[in-house]
Amino acid sequence: MKNIGFAAALALAASVASAQDAPSGDAANGETLFGRQCVSCHSAINAEGEVVAGRGAKTGPNLFGLLGRVIGSVEGFRYGDSILAVAATEAVWDEAPFVAYVQDPTDWLRTTLGDARARSKMAFKVRSAEDAADIWAYLATFGADEAGQ
Ligand code: HEC
Repeated sequence: MKNIGFAAALALAASVASAQDAPSGDAANGETLFGRQCVSCHSAINAEGEVVAGRGAKTGPNLFGLLGRVIGSVEGFRYGDSILAVAATEAVWDEAPFVAYVQDPTDWLRTTLGDARARSKMAFKVRSAEDAADIWAYLATFGADEAGQ
């Protein structure tokens, strides 16, 4: 009985840990993947206007401060109608929605909105959940303390 109690305590500790926002992925690998797969369209640009990730590309929205940021909320970026419908719910980016979104943005919008005609303007898919989690771990290092800006 004592052992079962200990195992339950361990399981509880693990679930408490995963309820926090600590990214599960490998940020160093995420940096490499970001450099190969995302910089043609995205950058992370801080409040001072400095490009802290990528090469300044602006085809996609600024990815600075993604952790905790309302989905589809970069001022001045011309988002598609579907992601703006998600923005209206004030849902925020976290690891789980990010990992699902970047593997198939249109499918994620359809599932999230319950609308089979939803579409994403992002024409790119990350190949695996593991790669997506690594990229999240990297992006979560930018501006997490300034989330929401
Ligand atoms: C070919 C250009 C392109 C590539 C490559 C691309 N994206 Fe995007 N991304 C976009 C566009 C355009 C949007 C806006 C989507 C919309 O309005 O529906 C977007 C939106 C996003 C969003 C939503 C941001 C917000 O403000 O809510 C995230 C997150 C994102 N991309 C992450 C990534 C990551 C990570 C990669 C690399 C693995 C990547 N994208 C590769 C073009 C791209």
